[in-house]
Amino acid sequence: VFSHVAHAPEDPILGVTVAYNKDPSPIKLNLGVGAYRTEEGRPLVLSIVRKAEQQIVNDMTRVKEYLPITGLAEFNKLSARLIFGADSLAIRENRVTTVQCLSGTGSLRVGAEFLAKHYHQRMIYIPHPTWGNHPKVFTLAGLNVKTYRYYDPTTRGLNFQGLLDDLGSAPSGAIVLLHACAHNPTGVDPTLTQWEQIRQLIRSKGLMPFFDSAYQGFASGSLDADAESVRMFVADGGELLVAQSYAKNMGLYGERVGALSVVCKTAEVAGRVESQLKLVIRPMYSNPPIHGASIVAFILKDRSMYNEWTVELKMMADRIISMRQQLYDALRSRGTPGDWTHIIRQIGMFTFTGLNSKQVAFMTKEYHIYMTSDGRISMAGLSSKRVPHLADAIHAAVTR
Ligand code: LMR
Repeated sequence: VFSHVAHAPEDPILGVTVAYNKDPSPIKLNLGVGAYRTEEGRPLVLSIVRKAEQQIVNDMTRVKEYLPITGLAEFNKLSARLIFGADSLAIRENRVTTVQCLSGTGSLRVGAEFLAKHYHQRMIYIPHPTWGNHPKVFTLAGLNVKTYRYYDPTTRGLNFQGLLDDLGSAPSGAIVLLHACAHNPTGVDPTLTQWEQIRQLIRSKGLMPFFDSAYQGFASGSLDADAESVRMFVADGGELLVAQSYAKNMGLYGERVGALSVVCKTAEVAGRVESQLKLVIRPMYSNPPIHGASIVAFILKDRSMYNEWTVELKMMADRIISMRQQLYDALRSRGTPGDWTHIIRQIGMFTFTGLNSKQVAFMTKEYHIYMTSDGRISMAGLSSKRVPHLADAIHAAVTR
């Protein structure tokens, strides 16, 4: 009965790792998935995470009971404070409902399912380009996906006018997906002044902002500065949704820890929204896992652990910035044709190189460098030792 089932293509991002794993070459380099690697090219478990984990494991009073449908209450409270700020009026007025979800993707999906069921407008505008999973998450939840202009390939910067024009002509009430910081894949963010203009436009048209916050702490190195865009929208008293992920900023990729917050107008509405989120979650995966959320809560609730985390986070962000500079310098020293300043201008984990899919295929075939076909490089996967190899490959790809 399944003989008609066609073989599905690999995922455009996670499939890069599948191809990389099959390559026997000793010089291979995986710059596909956005996952942090050390200078030695190895995955990193933060020492603060190890510390929290040890204390959790040694605490014999901890049990493995089911969490509530909404997850670990303490984790939810602390996650809301992390993104909205400890002094957030919306939190103080109990207008926020936060539920623990399966990392960023799970939070987006739960939010999208809720919107598809309870919000009057099914149209969602996502930036072009955006993370490859966004259109799939929203379409499968039953929303109609449209795009708004975001990136200008000629300047390798923001197409701000295009963004304003497209959101300006969106139907009233449409949902707008915004990357809170460190836009994936472009590494291009609006300035705070531009964010303010976007906010005014969104509010004046009654659009519904849905933030994806997957890189808090990775753009500027400061957790507060990276939440500024979201906090601007909370400060005006309006509604919004935020999906948070702890995959990158705590390195908890495989633990699948994230949160969805819905900011409402009143505490009473927030309570009703939460009751409906439970109806979305229960038939999907019942309730979320306990381990990763316990680690996050352990770190966020303790001032000194929190401070240690920010130091490690800054260390990761700084190493990525140094990789940008080293790659830029290596291309300059090779005299590689083109303006490569966007490598040092763009922020977050990725460089959107401008290389086309043919050039990427060439680099994979000849240099065993694995990256997404849109020319995105995960700078977090690069190390000083491997910069010359990457620069050689880029040079060869653009001069052939
Ligand atoms: C990425 O864009 O590489 C990450 O967000 C990982 C993923 O799940 O795609």
